[in-house]
Amino acid sequence: MTVATLQASPGETSAPTGAAPAVLSIADFSLWFQSKEVLRDISLAIPRGQFVAIIGPSGSGKSTLLNAIAGFIGPSSRDVTMGGSIMVGDGAPNAHALRCGVVFQEYALFPWRTARRNVEFSLEALDVPAPERARRSLQCLQQVGLGAAADLYPHQLSGGMKQRVAIARALAYDPSVLLMDEPLGALDALTREKLMSLIEKVWKETQTTVVYITHNVSEAVFLADRVLVLKANPGEVVLDLAIDLPRPRGALAADTIELERRLRAAIPDAEQDEGELR
Ligand SMILES: Nc1ncnc2c1ncn2[C@@H]1O[C@H](COP(=O)(O)OP(=O)(O)OP(=O)(O)O)[C@@H](O)[C@H]1O
Ligand SMILES: [Mg+2]
Repeated sequence: MTVATLQASPGETSAPTGAAPAVLSIADFSLWFQSKEVLRDISLAIPRGQFVAIIGPSGSGKSTLLNAIAGFIGPSSRDVTMGGSIMVGDGAPNAHALRCGVVFQEYALFPWRTARRNVEFSLEALDVPAPERARRSLQCLQQVGLGAAADLYPHQLSGGMKQRVAIARALAYDPSVLLMDEPLGALDALTREKLMSLIEKVWKETQTTVVYITHNVSEAVFLADRVLVLKANPGEVVLDLAIDLPRPRGALAADTIELERRLRAAIPDAEQDEGELR
Protein backbone atom coordinates (compact mmCIF):
# COMPACT_ATOMS: atom_id res chain seq x y z
CA MET A 1 0.00 0.00 0.00
CA THR A 2 1.24 3.47 -0.78
CA VAL A 3 -0.03 6.69 0.68
CA ALA A 4 1.00 9.68 -1.40
CA THR A 5 0.96 13.14 0.11
CA LEU A 6 0.78 16.17 -2.14
CA GLN A 7 1.40 19.50 -0.53
CA ALA A 8 -0.73 21.64 -2.79
CA SER A 9 0.39 25.13 -3.63
CA PRO A 10 -1.53 27.84 -5.50
CA GLY A 11 -1.68 27.04 -9.18
CA GLU A 12 -0.73 23.42 -8.73
CA THR A 13 -2.92 20.81 -10.35
CA SER A 14 -2.89 17.83 -8.10
CA ALA A 15 -4.55 15.02 -10.09
CA PRO A 16 -2.47 11.87 -10.09
CA THR A 17 -0.48 11.42 -13.27
CA GLY A 18 -1.87 8.78 -15.61
CA ALA A 19 -5.37 9.16 -14.14
CA ALA A 20 -8.57 9.48 -16.19
CA PRO A 21 -9.19 12.90 -17.80
CA ALA A 22 -10.49 15.53 -15.41
CA VAL A 23 -14.26 15.81 -15.20
CA LEU A 24 -13.89 18.84 -12.95
CA SER A 25 -11.09 21.34 -13.48
CA ILE A 26 -10.58 24.34 -11.27
CA ALA A 27 -7.81 26.76 -12.22
CA ASP A 28 -6.57 29.63 -10.03
CA PHE A 29 -10.08 30.15 -8.75
CA SER A 30 -10.57 33.05 -6.33
CA LEU A 31 -13.76 34.53 -4.94
CA TRP A 32 -14.62 37.67 -2.96
CA PHE A 33 -17.89 38.54 -1.25
CA GLN A 34 -17.72 42.34 -1.52
CA SER A 35 -14.23 43.10 -0.19
CA LYS A 36 -13.81 39.81 1.71
CA GLU A 37 -11.54 37.33 0.01
CA VAL A 38 -13.14 33.94 0.69
CA LEU A 39 -11.24 31.64 -1.69
CA ARG A 40 -7.74 32.21 -3.08
CA ASP A 41 -6.10 30.48 -6.03
CA ILE A 42 -7.81 27.10 -5.80
CA SER A 43 -6.46 24.79 -8.49
CA LEU A 44 -7.69 21.26 -8.74
CA ALA A 45 -8.24 18.56 -11.34
CA ILE A 46 -10.59 15.74 -10.44
CA PRO A 47 -10.53 12.70 -12.71
CA ARG A 48 -13.73 10.88 -13.61
CA GLY A 49 -14.88 8.53 -10.88
CA GLN A 50 -12.75 9.97 -8.09
CA PHE A 51 -14.25 10.49 -4.63
CA VAL A 52 -12.85 13.73 -3.18
CA ALA A 53 -13.61 14.92 0.34
CA ILE A 54 -13.05 18.49 1.49
CA ILE A 55 -12.53 19.29 5.16
CA GLY A 56 -11.57 22.50 6.92
CA PRO A 57 -12.63 24.84 9.68
CA SER A 58 -15.94 26.66 9.59
CA GLY A 59 -15.76 29.65 7.27
CA SER A 60 -12.93 28.23 5.15
CA GLY A 61 -15.14 28.48 2.06
CA LYS A 62 -16.09 24.82 1.55
CA SER A 63 -19.75 25.53 0.78
CA THR A 64 -18.83 28.57 -1.29
CA LEU A 65 -16.54 26.41 -3.44
CA LEU A 66 -19.24 23.77 -3.85
CA ASN A 67 -21.84 26.41 -4.75
CA ALA A 68 -19.48 27.90 -7.31
CA ILE A 69 -18.90 24.45 -8.85
CA ALA A 70 -22.68 23.90 -9.00
CA GLY A 71 -23.13 27.30 -10.62
CA PHE A 72 -25.30 28.60 -7.76
CA ILE A 73 -22.78 31.42 -7.36
CA GLY A 74 -21.60 32.86 -10.66
CA PRO A 75 -19.86 35.90 -12.10
CA SER A 76 -23.21 37.71 -12.26
CA SER A 77 -24.12 37.03 -8.60
CA ARG A 78 -24.60 40.13 -6.46
CA ASP A 79 -21.61 41.31 -4.41
CA VAL A 80 -19.43 38.53 -5.84
CA THR A 81 -16.15 38.90 -7.70
CA MET A 82 -14.43 35.86 -9.17
CA GLY A 83 -11.12 35.10 -10.77
CA GLY A 84 -9.86 31.98 -12.55
CA SER A 85 -12.12 29.26 -13.89
CA ILE A 86 -14.19 26.21 -13.05
CA MET A 87 -14.97 23.71 -15.77
CA VAL A 88 -17.40 20.83 -15.33
CA GLY A 89 -17.53 18.03 -17.90
CA ASP A 90 -16.62 19.26 -21.37
CA GLY A 91 -17.01 22.89 -20.28
CA ALA A 92 -19.95 23.77 -22.54
CA PRO A 93 -21.41 27.13 -21.50
CA ASN A 94 -24.13 27.11 -18.88
CA ALA A 95 -23.53 23.47 -18.18
CA HIS A 96 -23.00 23.62 -14.43
CA ALA A 97 -26.53 23.20 -13.17
CA LEU A 98 -27.26 20.33 -15.56
CA ARG A 99 -24.06 18.49 -14.84
CA CYS A 100 -23.94 18.66 -11.07
CA GLY A 101 -26.21 16.73 -8.75
CA VAL A 102 -26.29 18.43 -5.36
CA VAL A 103 -27.14 17.05 -1.92
CA PHE A 104 -27.29 19.43 1.06
CA GLN A 105 -27.41 18.81 4.78
CA GLU A 106 -31.05 19.88 4.79
CA TYR A 107 -32.91 17.39 2.66
CA ALA A 108 -34.71 20.10 0.67
CA LEU A 109 -37.55 17.80 -0.38
CA PHE A 110 -40.94 19.10 -1.49
CA PRO A 111 -43.35 18.08 1.31
CA TRP A 112 -46.31 17.83 -1.08
CA ARG A 113 -44.58 15.36 -3.37
CA THR A 114 -44.03 11.65 -2.76
CA ALA A 115 -40.47 10.28 -2.73
CA ARG A 116 -40.88 9.21 -6.34
CA ARG A 117 -42.21 12.60 -7.43
CA ASN A 118 -39.39 14.35 -5.58
CA VAL A 119 -36.86 12.30 -7.53
CA GLU A 120 -38.73 13.03 -10.76
CA PHE A 121 -38.42 16.76 -10.15
CA SER A 122 -34.96 17.13 -11.65
CA LEU A 123 -36.04 15.13 -14.71
CA GLU A 124 -39.08 17.37 -15.26
CA ALA A 125 -36.77 20.35 -15.61
CA LEU A 126 -34.99 18.44 -18.38
CA ASP A 127 -38.26 17.62 -20.18
CA VAL A 128 -37.76 13.87 -19.82
CA PRO A 129 -41.01 12.12 -20.91
CA ALA A 130 -43.27 10.95 -18.06
CA PRO A 131 -42.84 7.15 -18.50
CA GLU A 132 -39.06 7.51 -18.57
CA ARG A 133 -39.19 9.78 -15.50
CA ALA A 134 -41.21 7.19 -13.59
CA ARG A 135 -38.87 4.36 -14.59
CA ARG A 136 -35.73 6.30 -13.77
CA SER A 137 -36.96 7.66 -10.42
CA LEU A 138 -37.97 4.19 -9.23
CA GLN A 139 -34.62 2.80 -10.34
CA CYS A 140 -32.75 5.48 -8.37
CA LEU A 141 -34.90 4.93 -5.29
CA GLN A 142 -34.19 1.21 -5.51
CA GLN A 143 -30.50 2.00 -5.72
CA VAL A 144 -30.68 3.73 -2.33
CA GLY A 145 -32.85 0.94 -0.89
CA LEU A 146 -36.11 2.87 -0.98
CA GLY A 147 -38.04 1.12 -3.73
CA ALA A 148 -40.79 0.17 -1.28
CA ALA A 149 -41.12 3.76 0.01
CA ALA A 150 -41.55 5.38 -3.41
CA ASP A 151 -45.11 6.50 -2.72
CA LEU A 152 -44.55 7.88 0.78
CA TYR A 153 -44.43 11.61 1.52
CA PRO A 154 -41.44 13.25 3.28
CA HIS A 155 -43.30 13.49 6.62
CA GLN A 156 -43.66 9.71 6.54
CA LEU A 157 -39.88 9.20 6.18
CA SER A 158 -37.06 9.21 8.76
CA GLY A 159 -34.16 11.66 8.42
CA GLY A 160 -31.95 8.96 6.91
CA MET A 161 -34.66 8.00 4.42
CA LYS A 162 -35.17 11.64 3.42
CA GLN A 163 -31.47 12.00 2.76
CA ARG A 164 -31.56 8.82 0.66
CA VAL A 165 -34.37 10.38 -1.42
CA ALA A 166 -32.22 13.49 -1.85
CA ILE A 167 -29.32 11.31 -3.04
CA ALA A 168 -31.62 9.46 -5.47
CA ARG A 169 -32.86 12.80 -6.80
CA ALA A 170 -29.31 14.02 -7.35
CA LEU A 171 -28.43 10.80 -9.19
CA ALA A 172 -31.55 10.72 -11.34
CA TYR A 173 -30.17 12.56 -14.33
CA ASP A 174 -26.76 10.94 -14.20
CA PRO A 175 -24.72 14.03 -13.28
CA SER A 176 -21.08 14.39 -14.25
CA VAL A 177 -20.29 15.36 -10.67
CA LEU A 178 -22.19 14.65 -7.49
CA LEU A 179 -21.68 17.47 -4.98
CA MET A 180 -22.50 16.79 -1.33
CA ASP A 181 -22.35 19.44 1.39
CA GLU A 182 -22.29 17.77 4.82
CA PRO A 183 -25.00 15.32 3.71
CA LEU A 184 -24.88 13.34 6.94
CA GLY A 185 -24.47 16.31 9.28
CA ALA A 186 -28.05 16.25 10.54
CA LEU A 187 -28.20 12.50 11.21
CA ASP A 188 -27.52 10.44 14.35
CA ALA A 189 -24.30 8.42 14.53
CA LEU A 190 -25.84 5.05 13.68
CA THR A 191 -27.77 6.35 10.67
CA ARG A 192 -24.67 8.22 9.55
CA GLU A 193 -22.63 5.00 9.57
CA LYS A 194 -25.27 3.18 7.53
CA LEU A 195 -25.48 6.01 5.01
CA MET A 196 -21.69 6.18 4.68
CA SER A 197 -21.74 2.57 3.49
CA LEU A 198 -24.70 3.30 1.22
CA ILE A 199 -22.95 6.30 -0.34
CA GLU A 200 -19.87 4.16 -0.96
CA LYS A 201 -22.01 1.44 -2.57
CA VAL A 202 -23.89 3.91 -4.80
CA TRP A 203 -20.64 5.63 -5.79
CA LYS A 204 -19.14 2.27 -6.83
CA GLU A 205 -22.25 1.23 -8.76
CA THR A 206 -22.68 4.51 -10.61
CA GLN A 207 -18.95 5.22 -10.99
CA THR A 208 -19.82 8.85 -10.56
CA THR A 209 -17.40 11.58 -9.50
CA VAL A 210 -18.03 12.93 -6.02
CA VAL A 211 -17.03 16.11 -4.18
CA TYR A 212 -18.00 15.62 -0.55
CA ILE A 213 -17.79 18.25 2.16
CA THR A 214 -17.66 17.14 5.76
CA HIS A 215 -16.48 18.27 9.19
CA ASN A 216 -15.93 14.66 10.11
CA VAL A 217 -12.38 13.43 9.47
CA SER A 218 -13.30 9.75 9.95
CA GLU A 219 -16.08 10.09 7.39
CA ALA A 220 -13.63 11.60 4.90
CA VAL A 221 -11.09 8.80 5.41
CA PHE A 222 -13.79 6.11 5.20
CA LEU A 223 -15.21 7.41 1.92
CA ALA A 224 -12.66 9.34 -0.07
CA ASP A 225 -9.89 8.53 -2.54
CA ARG A 226 -8.44 11.90 -1.74
CA VAL A 227 -8.95 14.50 0.97
CA LEU A 228 -8.35 18.23 0.60
CA VAL A 229 -7.82 20.33 3.70
CA LEU A 230 -8.76 24.01 3.44
CA LYS A 231 -7.65 26.79 5.73
CA ALA A 232 -9.69 29.94 6.30
CA ASN A 233 -9.16 33.69 5.68
CA PRO A 234 -8.80 33.24 2.80
CA GLY A 235 -9.75 29.67 1.91
CA GLU A 236 -6.76 27.90 0.45
CA VAL A 237 -5.82 24.24 0.02
CA VAL A 238 -3.13 23.37 2.59
CA LEU A 239 -3.06 19.61 2.08
CA ASP A 240 -4.10 17.25 -0.71
CA LEU A 241 -3.85 13.72 0.68
CA ALA A 242 -4.42 10.50 -1.26
CA ILE A 243 -6.26 7.84 0.77
CA ASP A 244 -4.97 4.69 -0.79
CA LEU A 245 -6.52 2.19 1.60
CA PRO A 246 -8.38 -0.95 0.49
CA ARG A 247 -12.18 -0.86 0.62
CA PRO A 248 -14.38 -1.43 2.49
CA ARG A 249 -12.48 0.42 5.19
CA GLY A 250 -12.70 -0.56 8.81
CA ALA A 251 -12.98 2.36 11.18
CA LEU A 252 -10.25 1.07 13.49
CA ALA A 253 -7.56 -0.11 11.09
CA ALA A 254 -4.12 1.24 12.05
CA ASP A 255 -3.65 2.87 8.63
CA THR A 256 -6.99 4.65 8.98
CA ILE A 257 -6.06 6.01 12.38
CA GLU A 258 -2.71 7.28 11.09
CA LEU A 259 -4.32 9.05 8.12
CA GLU A 260 -6.95 10.61 10.36
CA ARG A 261 -4.18 11.84 12.64
CA ARG A 262 -2.33 13.45 9.74
CA LEU A 263 -5.47 15.16 8.48
CA ARG A 264 -6.41 16.47 11.93
CA ALA A 265 -2.89 17.83 12.34
CA ALA A 266 -3.17 19.61 8.98
CA ILE A 267 -6.35 21.49 9.83
CA PRO A 268 -5.16 24.99 10.73
CA ASP A 269 -6.36 26.70 13.88
CA ALA A 270 -9.14 24.15 14.26
CA GLU A 271 -9.20 24.55 18.03
CA GLN A 272 -9.56 28.31 17.76
CA ASP A 273 -12.35 28.08 15.27
CA GLU A 274 -16.06 28.08 15.90
CA GLY A 275 -16.54 25.06 13.64
CA GLU A 276 -15.74 21.97 15.67
CA LEU A 277 -13.95 19.16 13.93
CA ARG A 278 -15.00 15.84 15.22
N1 LIG B 1 -23.61 35.18 0.49
C1 LIG B 1 -22.57 35.58 1.23
N2 LIG B 1 -22.28 36.89 1.38
C2 LIG B 1 -21.22 37.30 2.10
N3 LIG B 1 -20.36 36.46 2.72
C3 LIG B 1 -20.60 35.14 2.62
C4 LIG B 1 -21.71 34.63 1.87
N4 LIG B 1 -21.66 33.27 1.94
C5 LIG B 1 -20.60 32.97 2.69
N5 LIG B 1 -19.96 34.08 3.10
C6 LIG B 1 -18.72 34.12 3.89
O1 LIG B 1 -17.74 33.35 3.22
C7 LIG B 1 -16.96 32.63 4.14
C8 LIG B 1 -17.00 31.16 3.80
O2 LIG B 1 -18.32 30.66 4.04
P1 LIG B 1 -18.70 29.16 3.73
O3 LIG B 1 -20.14 29.00 4.07
O4 LIG B 1 -18.30 28.82 2.35
O5 LIG B 1 -17.78 28.36 4.76
P2 LIG B 1 -17.79 26.81 5.13
O6 LIG B 1 -16.38 26.36 5.07
O7 LIG B 1 -18.78 26.09 4.31
O8 LIG B 1 -18.24 26.85 6.65
P3 LIG B 1 -19.09 25.76 7.49
O9 LIG B 1 -18.12 24.65 7.78
O10 LIG B 1 -19.50 26.49 8.72
O11 LIG B 1 -20.26 25.30 6.66
C9 LIG B 1 -17.50 32.95 5.52
O12 LIG B 1 -16.70 33.97 6.08
C10 LIG B 1 -18.89 33.47 5.25
O13 LIG B 1 -19.27 34.41 6.21
MG1 LIG C 1 -20.55 25.01 4.75
